[in-house]
Amino acid sequence: KELLLLNGPNLNLLGEREPGVYGSVTLQDIERQVQDVCKHEGWQVKSFQSNHEGELVDAIHEARHSSKGIIFNPGAYTHTSVALRDAISGVNVPMIEVHISNVHKRESFRHTSLLSPVAWGQIVGLGPLGYQLAAKAFIDHFKEDAD
Ligand code: DQA
Repeated sequence: KELLLLNGPNLNLLGEREPGVYGSVTLQDIERQVQDVCKHEGWQVKSFQSNHEGELVDAIHEARHSSKGIIFNPGAYTHTSVALRDAISGVNVPMIEVHISNVHKRESFRHTSLLSPVAWGQIVGLGPLGYQLAAKAFIDHFKEDAD
């Protein structure tokens, strides 16, 4: 059983990028935290971060062969990308959308997500913990599945 942990543009800079908004935790820390949650329950995690929209599309396509769920922080592509939305719609893999910051109390251009209508759920504003909660939600959801 595998989850894909997918992060979009600029999230490689977590820890140094706008710490007042995103905190001091790095992407590597987040990946480790999600790994820990999953390992405990017998799940694998595949982590991928890219600053390139097409590479994120490719990773979503690949997930249809390997992953039971996608934990996805699309970064700024959340607000712009029809291609990422279509990729999620096109694969039969549930996706939980995660945002570290509470996008709803920030600039109005962050209030719209093109991805949320095709997400299974959304976790917003809880910081890095949101990724672990998303992993727990998937693990709980698939508890009865044998594979
Ligand atoms: C973000 C919110 C987006 O608006 C922003 O472009 C990001 C990070 C978040 O995790 O809070 O890059 O997705």
